[in-house]
Amino acid sequence: MALTNNKHVLDWVDEMIALTKPDQVVWIDGSEEQLDDLRRQAEETKEMIKLNQEKLPGCYLHRTAVNDVARVEHRTFICSRKEENAGPTNNWMDPKEAYDKLGKLFDGSMKGRTAYIIPYSMGPIGSPFSKAGVEITDSIYVVLNMAIMTRMGKEVFTALGDSNDFVRGLHSKAQLDEENRYICHFPEDNTIWSINSGYGGNVLLGKKCFALRIASYQGKQEGWMAEHMLILGLENPQGEVKYIAAAFPSACGKTNLAMLIPPEVYKKQGYKVWCVGDDIAWLRIGPDGRLWAVNPENGFFGVAPGTNEKSNPNALASTRQGTIFTNVVHNLDDNTVWWEGLDKNPPKNALNWKGEKWDPASGEKGAHPNSRFTAPAKNCPCISPKFDSSEGVPISAIVFGGRRAKTAPLVYQSRDWENGVFVGSIMASETTAAATGAVGVVRRDPMAMLPFCGYHMGDYWAHWIEMGKKLGDKAPKIFNVNWFRTDDEGHFIWPGFGDNMRVLDWIIKRCEGKADADETPIGFVPKAEDINLEGLDFSVEQLKDILSVDKELWKAETQGIEEFYGKFGDRLPQELRNQLNTLKAKLN
Ligand code: GTP
Ligand code: MN
Ligand code: MN
Repeated sequence: MALTNNKHVLDWVDEMIALTKPDQVVWIDGSEEQLDDLRRQAEETKEMIKLNQEKLPGCYLHRTAVNDVARVEHRTFICSRKEENAGPTNNWMDPKEAYDKLGKLFDGSMKGRTAYIIPYSMGPIGSPFSKAGVEITDSIYVVLNMAIMTRMGKEVFTALGDSNDFVRGLHSKAQLDEENRYICHFPEDNTIWSINSGYGGNVLLGKKCFALRIASYQGKQEGWMAEHMLILGLENPQGEVKYIAAAFPSACGKTNLAMLIPPEVYKKQGYKVWCVGDDIAWLRIGPDGRLWAVNPENGFFGVAPGTNEKSNPNALASTRQGTIFTNVVHNLDDNTVWWEGLDKNPPKNALNWKGEKWDPASGEKGAHPNSRFTAPAKNCPCISPKFDSSEGVPISAIVFGGRRAKTAPLVYQSRDWENGVFVGSIMASETTAAATGAVGVVRRDPMAMLPFCGYHMGDYWAHWIEMGKKLGDKAPKIFNVNWFRTDDEGHFIWPGFGDNMRVLDWIIKRCEGKADADETPIGFVPKAEDINLEGLDFSVEQLKDILSVDKELWKAETQGIEEFYGKFGDRLPQELRNQLNTLKAKLN
């Protein structure tokens, strides 16, 4: 039975059901009874494996098809009416063509299956930040993941009332046919169509598809921002909490920083870090004129390999109950899970991520490098008391960062908001030798939004500049960090992880006007004595080395920026063109 009288929802659901032709339609009310029933069904069909309920209560394992293990950027399209509005960084498809092409693929794609209608909210239900979505899917795995990643259930319809303001998401596994896999976004229609995939980033439509691609477009229209950012709260010994939002590209450490455990010297003074979000932030100007943020998600969809008791104990603790693991190793001895980098004891009697008998001595990886956990946020030991707050948290600092072997210093502060937008727009990561064999190939990833911006990147930068004008002197300060400077042998110099607290400490001091800095052509760099090295085996010389700004490297960098900016033609805001010219002048 339908869970709403909302005519817009009912009409759209009818239309999609007529198209996809499922045998049955089930409305998801969010109750534990219904979810339990779905878990039982998924267990029976082997879609999910119930794990050891003493060691991992409420946890399940799922394996995707072997050719369906990651987001597919080349099959992801922004279907704006005008091609120019998708911009040079997105794939574009004409919306008419996309509806037509995918319509044919969706036609009868759910025959023999059940369609699940999922009402969900991105952001706490009832918060002025929040937005409703409805996803129709033929995958129980999607329903159970959405139950962790979003606030899901019939209350969402109550909050929606008879409004038309919800995002329409249609997903079908169809035949899981790689050749016909498409993830299409129709920003002008608040619509997402995803077909032939079963992988998280392509099918949990509330996450990247809605909360970043569609929401970034909505934010531009409505005067707010959807960003690929973690949000953390830093509590000082007096109990005051300052909030930081940070954008790093995928695999550059957002989940790690969001759940940071401060080093002993800080802990014993009473410093604490609180996690508000590890991947996405929605930012609005509050009644007080400051920038406020909420995490629209309700769980963590984190990379499993490398997560362990040392690297990220809070993330690991979050996965100990109510979690769905995807594409990790199945330990048959005690019916638990394992992945590379969890510990030094790979299970002897085990199946790899493909479900094949696996011998750790074979040298083959047991877990897929992009294997993931879907864990409830409330499991996280350092989850912020403000996690569910409907007004969000006030942001003091915005931090950008990427992987740069030599160019970017450990940390620097932009001169002002506009200069900060420039710093975000030139964000980049280098491929490491270990990863590809090619050293120093620079991939520009402005604001870590390259794969996620739902409209023209030049207009997106203009929106950032506009937000700064509205915020005026209440704007957060903008910084850039780089945990990844390497020595001549390619080793990371900065210890990173928990010790990144020392850098956050400087950032907050700068926001409070309590720390000095040296001005360089790129912005303000800390004085070495202002970064607290107490309790750390790290010399002031090493610190000076990673704080250094090499003018020759930066001159070369300006050429790369020039080339990149060239793509955006006259949609590149004049302010950024001016910023680049200023940087060039300062370097000469
Ligand atoms: P998505 O969830 O895909 O958006 O990415 P993410 O930004 O959350 O990246 P994630 O935390 O999964 O990236 C982790 C990778 O960064 C792992 O390889 C970590 O070892 C590495 N990493 C995280 N923090 C640090 C650090 O401070 N120093 C160094 N050297 N590596 C780090
Ligand atoms: Mn991400
Ligand atoms: Mn992450």
